[in-house]
Amino acid sequence: MKPMAAALAVLLLTAAPSARAQKFEDLALTPPMGWNSWNHFECNISEGIVRETADAMVASGMREAGYLYVNIDDCWHGERDADGFITADPERFPSGMKALADYVHSKGLKLGLYSDAGWTTCGGRPGSRGHEFQDALTYARWGVDYLKYDWCDTDGLNAEGAYQTMAAALTAAGRPVVFSICEWGENRPWEWGKELGHLWRTTGDIGPCFDCEVNHGDWSSWGVLRIVDMQVGLRIHAGPGHWNDPDMMEVGNGMSVSEDRAHFSMWAMLAAPLIAGNDLRTMSEATRAILTNREVIAVDQDPLGVQGFRHSTDGELELWFKPLEGGDWAMCVLNRGASPRPIELVWQDEDVEDKLSDRQALFKARLYRIHDLWTGTDLGTTRRPMKAEIAGHDVLMVRLVRVLDAND
Ligand code: GLA
Repeated sequence: MKPMAAALAVLLLTAAPSARAQKFEDLALTPPMGWNSWNHFECNISEGIVRETADAMVASGMREAGYLYVNIDDCWHGERDADGFITADPERFPSGMKALADYVHSKGLKLGLYSDAGWTTCGGRPGSRGHEFQDALTYARWGVDYLKYDWCDTDGLNAEGAYQTMAAALTAAGRPVVFSICEWGENRPWEWGKELGHLWRTTGDIGPCFDCEVNHGDWSSWGVLRIVDMQVGLRIHAGPGHWNDPDMMEVGNGMSVSEDRAHFSMWAMLAAPLIAGNDLRTMSEATRAILTNREVIAVDQDPLGVQGFRHSTDGELELWFKPLEGGDWAMCVLNRGASPRPIELVWQDEDVEDKLSDRQALFKARLYRIHDLWTGTDLGTTRRPMKAEIAGHDVLMVRLVRVLDAND
């Protein structure tokens, strides 16, 4: 190549447009934590509820436990103005989104919004199709920190392309935003979402039941166990900055306390985004205690960022493991059945290996202290077999804390 041609080629390569589809790095090195309006409020959302939720997030200790994002889902939208810019519903959000973002920020929290890649959102409000750059600019002007981008009314659209367009628009708008890809796992987002967003939904919508499918005509919502089962095979795609999203939580939305506990534990084992979906203003102490369990949250937020895996099953019992930073492991025994089940764990029978992260729980050679994450007590060490009874629709979740010996 002639020197001039080489110089031109370099110039062309370095002068790429600033709106290239790329995400803001380092915003979700651990799974995002926050709240979203949809699972409890659906379309009945307003600025009053959002402000009170932000207040409750602080008063309940959730902010201190790591919950950061206050996310408004569908139905906040008003009309587009004469120039095509989106506005907030003037009746539900009379003070406007900028004022609401300022309020949420004043509480040390961040604000999220929802839009849709199609012509209309799932709730029939204006979608972003054809307005992506305008909408991203509007969100940046309002001070929005998180965007969930849905997939209704998208006939004929290519999913990767549509999410690329919005990722490029957010990049061009310049305000760092967590980008939540929500196309229900239909177009294998785990294969292309990593470059564009920080999390991608892997399934259709969750519902507040432990093990059910609710048929809504042309789509179904799924209970906790059904969603857990749909995660199999996806863990290789998750890691710091890019997470599988098994949907927002239903803790506090009508399941029993043990079901809520099992749900929360499994989301932590899956390194799932922890987005509460209940009414934080009126939640019971039992719900608050589940959502703010620091030791379970630490499993979810572990900096190694490795999604856990189902190690084995025995009838209705499942044994899950998740490797943690520093040689510890989280272990969760899930009882899918309604009746209590006894279990005996003979640790030294078998080491546990995770090829994905190249971590081993060497029960034969090493010693671990067994710390119960729901009672906060120690249950001895892995030197001796452990017997327990797992209540129906419940879990035993422990942290296996590596006990260092003289050779370490
Ligand atoms: C879809 C999404 C839900 C919620 C609704 C809003 O169903 O998957 O999480 O955002 O739309 O209409």
